[in-house]
Amino acid sequence: MIRYKQLGYVALNVTDLDRSEAFYRDLVGVTARGEPGPQGARLFRTGPGPHGLILFQGAAPGLKRIGFELESAQAREALCAALDAAGVDWNELDPAEADAWGLGRCVRVVEPHTTAVLDFYESRRDLGGPAYASTVAQIQRLGHIVLKTPQLADTARFFREVLNFRVSDEVDGAIVFMRAFPNPYHHCLALGRSAQPALHHVNLMVSEVDDIGRAFWRFGKAGVPVVFGPGRHPPSGSLFLYFLDPDALTVEYSFGMEEFPERDARAPRTLKLAAESIDEWGAPHDPRKYAVGSIETPTPRPRERQGA
Ligand SMILES: [Fe+2]
Repeated sequence: MIRYKQLGYVALNVTDLDRSEAFYRDLVGVTARGEPGPQGARLFRTGPGPHGLILFQGAAPGLKRIGFELESAQAREALCAALDAAGVDWNELDPAEADAWGLGRCVRVVEPHTTAVLDFYESRRDLGGPAYASTVAQIQRLGHIVLKTPQLADTARFFREVLNFRVSDEVDGAIVFMRAFPNPYHHCLALGRSAQPALHHVNLMVSEVDDIGRAFWRFGKAGVPVVFGPGRHPPSGSLFLYFLDPDALTVEYSFGMEEFPERDARAPRTLKLAAESIDEWGAPHDPRKYAVGSIETPTPRPRERQGA
């Protein structure tokens, strides 16, 4: 059975690594590794454990890839079998490349509807550097990532039926919130209906409601656009604040989230498509939110299966 530990990392393309490193380190409060990682990438801790945020230099700001941590080698084998049964191509990351990133065996898939690159790895070693230290905010964890897709139902079906994600809630015809079973959090992934595939936003969970309030004023003073919030999402119960990074990628802080038991979880709800299903507090919508964020699609590679 495919079983996950968690959303492990999100890798983004940014147009100016130094500028973005300073922003994420000094204003968002993730902990920089300092020394660049493989391929010149900048790594950041998003709480305890290995680096959850990775930045690459890229011409088009947006998503490079998403890493999901599996529970075990058995889970990886089950994933490969499910992909084969669904006729979805995959390859295993070259062992030297995987090791450079601290990953054990890692299966890479191009999601068929969004073309987002998804990594599924069975273990991860820490690449070193300073431990996470709370500075401007107490970051709890990398929370979730949201993708835009023109094929909402088909994309959700792929994650649910092939990858064994579970639907926690939906906003009717517009958003599907999913958890990586049996990870308890309401969503580590959401899909939003859109004309084109794109990155919607990346979320970091914070530890206190004060982290939301302090950020609102900190961003105001620093000229960081706050594009939505503070508010409260009815589906997950999370308090939220959305802001823009230097490339105008949308980043969210959230505080609090419903958790699901592995067994006898409540059924998913379908909320009506209305503003109050997105925010209980009536925050205005800024048109700059979710406006930037391409999805990098690799050139097709031949299958490089190694055993699995
Ligand atoms: Fe979010």
